[in-house]
Amino acid sequence: MSQPSAVAGARTPAFGEAFTAHMVTARWTADRGWHAPRLRPFEQLSISPAMVGLHYGQVAFEGLKAHRGVHGSLALFRPGEHARRFQQSARRLAMPELPEELFLAAARDLVRADGDQLPADPGLSLYLRPVLFATEPCLAVRPAREYLFVLIAFVTAGFFGPRPEPVSVMVSRTHSRAVPGGTGHAKVAGNYAPAYLEQLRAEQAGCQQVVWLDAVEHRWVEELGAMNIFFVRGQGPGAQVVTPSLTGTLLPGITRDSLLTLAADLGYQPAQERVSLDQWWSECRSGVITETFACGTAAVVTPVGRVRDEQGDWTIGDGTAGPVTLALRDALVDVHTGLSADPHGWMSPA
Ligand code: COI
Repeated sequence: MSQPSAVAGARTPAFGEAFTAHMVTARWTADRGWHAPRLRPFEQLSISPAMVGLHYGQVAFEGLKAHRGVHGSLALFRPGEHARRFQQSARRLAMPELPEELFLAAARDLVRADGDQLPADPGLSLYLRPVLFATEPCLAVRPAREYLFVLIAFVTAGFFGPRPEPVSVMVSRTHSRAVPGGTGHAKVAGNYAPAYLEQLRAEQAGCQQVVWLDAVEHRWVEELGAMNIFFVRGQGPGAQVVTPSLTGTLLPGITRDSLLTLAADLGYQPAQERVSLDQWWSECRSGVITETFACGTAAVVTPVGRVRDEQGDWTIGDGTAGPVTLALRDALVDVHTGLSADPHGWMSPA
């Protein structure tokens, strides 16, 4: 069972506002390829106001974490998968792919340099944010010929804190996050700002996140804010743990993938299938869907308690965190902190 966090009840560090002392940078130019990787103090960057990334959005990023194990050492969670997804995102934007070894070395160097800033508290982790952007000063509409890779880090208790209360979510029927053939499957900056307007509307409606439906039929549940979503059907050991299938408009979350594996390990029935909004509502009403949760590197596993929709609001189960959600969260956190074995080899010593 996961250890209680010392930050629960204490002041939780705000997500992504205070960075550690160092960063890693590397450059790519058309003539030299990748060069000059270096660990350096966290500092301002000098960029051209005509930089391509700023004007046309050639920007991809990742989010991965290092955790302090019960014996004190630090390990990264599935860094190879993050490196490969970063490459896929770069490819989608016609950017050079950062070699996996460079990504892994950068992550290890930063964790070794700044890992001492992560307290020995299982509720806290070191969130690493790699970002790759086009630095060439050029307003012609074509892929840039110069790029910068930057890796920064901060200590976090998670997007909603270490053991979050259930969140309320608002269904968007007017906006879409991703379209077929677009960039929804890639982690690119341009997927995020277009969601802010609906995020603000959700907050005004007393909700923490937006439920995104597919852009074609406005019928299928795809994602939850900047996170993946899971539904639990039934109860107990045979419960089905369902997440929307990767249709090309969803981000292939690494936490999502890990939870499908852990669900099987715990004896649940993992499944990937399209779930419609109507189905979600009617199956909650009939008691078939008993729990819903969001997941992601930042959100870890966050229960969903209530759904607001213009056609009527509803509560998931009794509105509290369900047992399957909590079992999956504990199983994941226990792997992170080394409290349980790591049969899938997900933790990589820093
Ligand atoms: C993550 O879960 O790591 C994300 O990238 C989501 C958000 C913080 C942008």
